[in-house]
Amino acid sequence: MQKNYAAGRLRFTTDNTRAYKDADAIFIGVGTPEQPDGSANLSYIATVARQIAETIEKDCLVVVKSTVPVGTNDKVEQFIHDFLVHDVKVEVASNPEFLAQGTAVRDTLEAARIIIGTDSQWAEEMLMKIYEPFNLPIVSVSRRSAEMIKYAANDFLALKISYMNDIANLCELVGADIQDVARGMSFDERIGSKFLNASIGYGGSCFPKDTKALDYLARQNGYELRTVKAAIAVNNDQKTILYKKASNRLITFDGLKVAVLGLTFKPGTDDLREAPSLENVPLLLERGAHVYAYDPVGCDNFKQRYPEGEYNIKYVDKPEEALSGANVCFIFTEWSEIKAVQPKEYKKLMRTPLVYDGRNIYGIEEMQDAGVEYYSIGRQAVVENKDLKSNNSYNPGHRQYIA
Ligand code: UGA
Repeated sequence: MQKNYAAGRLRFTTDNTRAYKDADAIFIGVGTPEQPDGSANLSYIATVARQIAETIEKDCLVVVKSTVPVGTNDKVEQFIHDFLVHDVKVEVASNPEFLAQGTAVRDTLEAARIIIGTDSQWAEEMLMKIYEPFNLPIVSVSRRSAEMIKYAANDFLALKISYMNDIANLCELVGADIQDVARGMSFDERIGSKFLNASIGYGGSCFPKDTKALDYLARQNGYELRTVKAAIAVNNDQKTILYKKASNRLITFDGLKVAVLGLTFKPGTDDLREAPSLENVPLLLERGAHVYAYDPVGCDNFKQRYPEGEYNIKYVDKPEEALSGANVCFIFTEWSEIKAVQPKEYKKLMRTPLVYDGRNIYGIEEMQDAGVEYYSIGRQAVVENKDLKSNNSYNPGHRQYIA
């Protein structure tokens, strides 16, 4: 960006007239947040569309990168035509975005594919020309199909995670290990090795919103999208699964020091949207816990919702500070700073080494060796006290992996 800025190829402005008026193509990348009924809020798109209509002075292609319900591009085009001030040609194309938070540059420059959705040759050729230098696979489809590809892709990934979480919960009941199961599945190219990590549930600004938006779109069209509904339901339950286990184990949280490691919905971002921590911390606070929260970047955002003075919560700079003297620990995000905490530290620092790991960051055997009572997702619990074993006991056995 610095190189292009220095070469005069890149400019930043808050003056929309200057940005739009003689552009050949305008990309819209504003948010489409979820509304209370699950539908996407299109007001930001509408605002930009109107500004474009009122300022462009030359033929122009408007490219929608934002995730929008199928059919929105048709409406955006109509909306722009309705408000157009100058007599120019303007068309709208769909070009959904597939980058993930924290890996935006890589995901853009090394995208698996570029989807362009156009309804005219002029628009298609323009987008082809823009993307040619990227030298990436381009899939050219209709506008509506492009809009659907974005939801279908995100919801499929959400479904994949919920499926693994569903299987993980069954694994615990029948004495299997979800990580071994995932490993065994991953060699099948039809399944693939990515997004098979069972967890405390998916969060973020995309999967939760896009599953609900597609479900809403289906309902609006008189159709029930049963698979996506199931993904949503499994994810909702998954987020508090460890809290429920801990509630059964501890009887009460009243007066207990609870270490919470990780607040953001995934590592590499300070984003808390739909993060499992936001479901669990309020429950812990309501039950009288003293929460000690650690996150390398997420504390400032969390503090805005749960300030230290107002709630029984303290934000600490190191995982060890949260663990020191704690009665129980929850791990919600797999930050490398948290993964760096050695199993023996839990035993050494905590008052009672009782750990609920929502990201399966430790090996069962290492936690067992360290003498930590350890509950994770889709794996057998490490429990010393036989009476506490609710399911089949964990038997490390002697397995050999073929990598
Ligand atoms: C997601 C998609 O991965 C992007 O392709 C898409 O462009 C983006 O949404 C979007 O629509 O804008 P993002 O939400 O940034 O990206 O994050 P992911 O890395 O996909 O993770 C989402 C959630 O799934 C996280 O909470 C993560 O912890 C969880 N997850 C991911 C699992 O629980 N298990 C896995 O195996 C993978």
